[in-house]
Parts: sequence; structure tokens; C-alpha cells
Amino acid sequence: MTESAERIDTTRLQAVARAYTQSAVFYAALDVELFTHIHNGSTTEEELITATTLRQIDVERLVTCLLSMEMITWSDDGSLVNAPDVDKFLVKGTRRYAGEWMMFTRPDVPKWFRMTELMLSQHGTRLGMYDELTVESAKKYHQATSSIGFGAARRFVRTVDLSERRHLLDLGGGSGAYSITAVETFENLRATVLDLPPVVVATQEYIADAGVGDRVDTVGADFTQGEFPGPVDAVVMASNLPIYDGQVIAGVVARAFRALESGGEMHLIGEMLDDDRSGPLDSAMWGMNELICGSLGRSHTRAEVVGYFADAGFVDIDISEFVPDTLARCVGTKP
Ligand SMILES: C[S@@+](CC[C@H](N)C(=O)[O-])C[C@H]1O[C@@H](n2cnc3c(N)ncnc32)[C@H](O)[C@@H]1O
Repeated sequence: MTESAERIDTTRLQAVARAYTQSAVFYAALDVELFTHIHNGSTTEEELITATTLRQIDVERLVTCLLSMEMITWSDDGSLVNAPDVDKFLVKGTRRYAGEWMMFTRPDVPKWFRMTELMLSQHGTRLGMYDELTVESAKKYHQATSSIGFGAARRFVRTVDLSERRHLLDLGGGSGAYSITAVETFENLRATVLDLPPVVVATQEYIADAGVGDRVDTVGADFTQGEFPGPVDAVVMASNLPIYDGQVIAGVVARAFRALESGGEMHLIGEMLDDDRSGPLDSAMWGMNELICGSLGRSHTRAEVVGYFADAGFVDIDISEFVPDTLARCVGTKP
């Protein structure tokens, strides 16, 4: 027997079987604003009992789990501190608070546990959850996602130089995060956010709040059909890749190519898989999320995305990490 065979046991399998417990503890901590209380000075369990109004035993259980999950740690003086990412993004009332996004998929939890039934029923439509979008639900959606979107958009303008570009088309632009941030960064740039008709009502509010209404406009349309407004010299499509299958994405990339002027560039930013589909896990799970959301979408590999660009006619295609283990960025130029 080899050394590795001797060591095979059920530890990993048991951890996976109960992985949902971590999500549940995390949600409960956010419900009682535990990280916010710690940030604001309730750094002992006694103080957390007062701040959360929970029983001593439940504070002890929560703190124990969160210590093991490395969400909080003990400081040298025996008080509790948030982990750096927790403190940056999960303190309510701060600018970068992302709690709403963390909670965004919580209502889907019962469906994840009905996955087999959903698969056997073969449900799913092309647009999935976007079929039923209303102005109200679109506003709620972007209230939750915009903090993440603007963070990614700031990364985009640090990574991509659009100073020589005049018009950016932002496909599925949602809150307008990429367009707003790009025109704020590049003074000669205008942008058009194309998103579904109920969504652009919300987009217009973000544009107005940022005071860039003279340089960013919106088009209410379904990007899976019809030609795109053009000519433009830059296109970005961010964070909607797994919503659709290969045929739809290839069609979007081909129509973006047609909307571009010669020399123009397209950036597709999304959760992409390694070519052997063995990870990253988050990219794989976003594909499965589409079963839960009722679409026919799936995760795409980097090679597939490069293929969509090449088939459309793009050249100088390059793919790189955008947010490690989360998002990759594919760029191509129209000859
Ligand atoms: C996760 S959000 C990303 C928003 C934005 N690109 C960002 O990164 O901040 C996905 C967006 O794609 C839009 N979308 C999905 N399917 C679409 C379609 N068929 N036509 C137009 N927009 C679509 C959604 O309405 C939503 O605003």
C-alpha cells in the first residue's frame, strides 16, 4: 500500500457534505451585524452579547465558528478583531460595505438543495431570471451588486488604457459601473450602457448620481438579439458570461465586432474556467447557479472565449487574470 493510499479517509468528504454550514453561520453573523459591532468596539464576548442581544451560548457558538472560519481572530490583548477583508467590506455604514451582495443569493438556498429535482425537470429558458425582471427588482439587484461592480470597474480603468478611445459600448452594463468609472477616468470618452429595458431605469439613476449624464447614455435592449448601436471604438462586457451558452455568447461577440470601427477593441470580463474545467471552483459554481436561476447558461473555458473572439474576426486576442480565481479578461482588436 502506498503512503497516500494509507492516508485516504472521509475527512474531506465530510467537510464538503457540511460546507453549507459555513454559509449559514456567515449569514447569521451578518444578520446580527457581528462584524460591524466588533469594528465599532464590541470586542469581547460580553460586549457582543449586549450589542447583538443574543444569548451567551449563541455568541460563544458564533465566535467559535467565525474564529475557525478565519473571519475573526484574537488580538494579542485577548480582544476580537475582524480579518482584514471582513473589516474592509462587511462593516455596515462604510462606503465599501458589500453585505447586500453577500446576502444576494441567500434566497436561492432552498433551490440549491432541490438541484437534482431541477435537473430532472429539465427547466430553463434562454434569459432565465432576466425574463421576469421588473424595474423594482432590477433596482434591488443593482443595489446589491453595484458595490462589487464599481470595485471591478476601478480595477478595469487601472488595467486598460482607454485614453485614446472616444466611445465605449458597455453590454449588460447594469449599474453603469464600468461606463461611469471609465468616463470619470478618461476625459475624451463617452459611453453607452446597453441593458434590459427595466435595468436601464436603474442605470440612469446611477448616471445621474455620478453627474455624468452628458457623457453616458443608455439603450434598453436584449443583447442576445439585434444589432448593437455603433460605430464605437471600445466594447466591454463584464460579469454576465455564465448566464448564456456558447452559441449566445459567440453571437454577442460577433455583433460587438460588427459595431466596432476598424482598430477598435473588445474586453470580455467573466468567470472563466481553466481549459480542462478543473477550476476555479467559483467559476464552476456560477455555471451551476444558472440552473438555479432557470437559464440555459453554463461556465465557459478560457479557450472557448478565445474561440468566440477568433470566430468573430478579432485579432491580437489575449486572455489574462483580472481578479485572481474569480474573473478573467479576454481582449481582442478588430483589424
Ligand atoms: C452581474 S450584472 C453585471 C453588471 C455590470 N456589467 C458590472 O459588471 O457591474 C449582469 C448584467 O447583465 C445584464 N444582462 C443579462 N442578460 C442581458 C441581456 N440579454 N441583454 C442585456 N443585458 C443583460 C443584467 O441585466 C445585468 O445588469
